[in-house]
Amino acid sequence: MCGIVGYIGHRDAYPIVLKGLQRLEYRGYDSAGIALYNDGELKVSKTKGKVADLKAKIESENNTAGTLALGHTRWATHGVPNDVNSHPHMSNSGNLVIIHNGIIENYESLKKELKARGYTFESDTDTEVLVNLIEDVSKKENVRLGKAVQIALNQTVGAYAIAVFDKTKPNEIVVARLGSPLAIGVGEEEFFIASDASPFIEFTSNAIYLEDGEMAVVRRHKGVKVRKIKDDQLVDPYVQELQMNLEQIEKSNFDHFMLKEIYEQPSAITDTYRGRLLVNEGIIRMAGVDDNLERFLNARRIVIVACGTSWHAGLVAEYIFEDLARIPVEVEYASEFRYRNPIINSDDVVIAISQSGETADTMAAIKLAKEKGAFVFGVCNVVGSSISRETNAGAYTHAGPEIGVASTKAFTTQITVLTLIALKLAKAKGNISNTDFHMHLRELEMIPHKIEVALEANEHIKEVAFKYKDARNCLYLGRGYNFPVALEGALKLKEISYIHAEGYPAAEMKHGPIALIDENMPVVVIATRKGHYEKVVSNIQEIKSRSGKIIGIVTEGDTSVRDLADYVIEVPDTIESLTPLVTTIPLQLLSYHIAVMLGKNVDQPRNLAKSVTVE
Ligand code: F6R
Repeated sequence: MCGIVGYIGHRDAYPIVLKGLQRLEYRGYDSAGIALYNDGELKVSKTKGKVADLKAKIESENNTAGTLALGHTRWATHGVPNDVNSHPHMSNSGNLVIIHNGIIENYESLKKELKARGYTFESDTDTEVLVNLIEDVSKKENVRLGKAVQIALNQTVGAYAIAVFDKTKPNEIVVARLGSPLAIGVGEEEFFIASDASPFIEFTSNAIYLEDGEMAVVRRHKGVKVRKIKDDQLVDPYVQELQMNLEQIEKSNFDHFMLKEIYEQPSAITDTYRGRLLVNEGIIRMAGVDDNLERFLNARRIVIVACGTSWHAGLVAEYIFEDLARIPVEVEYASEFRYRNPIINSDDVVIAISQSGETADTMAAIKLAKEKGAFVFGVCNVVGSSISRETNAGAYTHAGPEIGVASTKAFTTQITVLTLIALKLAKAKGNISNTDFHMHLRELEMIPHKIEVALEANEHIKEVAFKYKDARNCLYLGRGYNFPVALEGALKLKEISYIHAEGYPAAEMKHGPIALIDENMPVVVIATRKGHYEKVVSNIQEIKSRSGKIIGIVTEGDTSVRDLADYVIEVPDTIESLTPLVTTIPLQLLSYHIAVMLGKNVDQPRNLAKSVTVE
């Protein structure tokens, strides 16, 4: 939610910050702004709309000189998206300028106090309150900017990643984080600040990821000084070498990041199991699980917490863990779990799944589970993310950066990691025969190739998309392992094409949703040969007799569903527990093509943001 970028050094700051904002636009895209300092002068340009609108505005005014800049791309929380509420925000004196990702929850009471002392506010934002609070502290206490930021933050409640500078002291930027990510790229007498490392990847591969509750003063010539916001203790910053490369964060020859990421799934899954799935040796190696095997084996149950697509991956995992490892599993929306006084015991293992590793609700659920004594294991994609650091142990998905807002390769790589864990535990508990275990390993190894085959249906899926692009509603049905895939398919369609879609377990149809079926209702049914096939075929018959339009996702060579359905899309055969990894592919492509045909912004759908760092 919101992307922040900053630069201080010897290069022109504007192109760096602008490009950085374009790369972070997936985090929020309802307005954008840049503050640029040049020779005693501070120019702040901001606008409702995309980074491209900001670029046009700034370049038409020729406002691009300077070696110090802050930029922001916004996902509105306080105040509607408009020019005034856009960041950066300035203090009343016009000296301080700030960018902020997060929420200051007690901003109203702070605003009241500041107003009583004569401060005025142009915007409705919590951020403008924070910058004036910092100014007020620095005047009252007569302290430098770093100290003023520290004192002010200690008066706030909420979450933030901020960067602030004072135009009268243009050799430093002060940054701080609590609950929102912040990375500092370290170059030669130049520093980059960003919500993730993508804005500075071509300039440096050295980065400091601030920990929650830390702040840093970043000085043009003197480097970075990190300290704890609460107790002022100095911290020796850990400079990490980045794994990311430029190619990973560019679209290559694809029209959209989403399509690129759909096509990356074979290689992403290979990266997920590389070094972990050792088929010839017949073992699964995962440090996070190996080091904590007793905790897993003694777990009374596994509780999975996640949101959105990651929650759907959790639902697939519920089937795998219960089916193979015979451990009871509960899957919870993190946002519900955190507020309902859940019963969690010290012999529970909680698995938190998150692509971004920054989702506020998932983070809060983890903290709650830890307080209750549970062992918390993270399944994250973004290396070094808040969730990956907050959990007791974990396994990365290694899917590479996912930039399209609609999650695709994150989902299949999460399922891959969770399958590896379930198989490992099944083996360790003696709940799976050697033959079965080896068969699972071999099948999992073949999944990337099977996804490549599933992707070959792309042109046919385009035809299906064309046929149903004008539908106003759509149902997705699946059973067993493919029920969560139906939910995921429906989520993909609604979030990027804005067509109303619902996912159901196929057998639930007759308990209500069947009333919706008529000749205008497309119904996507996952009917692979493995997994309740005959039952699903009967469900298809029920839809057919009510004139519903059927799109069957079937196993290669299927004939029964073909006879009933209006369209079928084939996927390669695999064992039941792995079918979600192949059936998901046509559903992703179907929603992608429908959204493109409807002229929607596929990578940046309305009202959404990639990391949901607010609750
Ligand atoms: C849907 C989507 C969201 C996320 C959800 C959780 O395509 O992307 O539903 O899955 O916001 O995000 P993470 O996995 O980053 O915690």
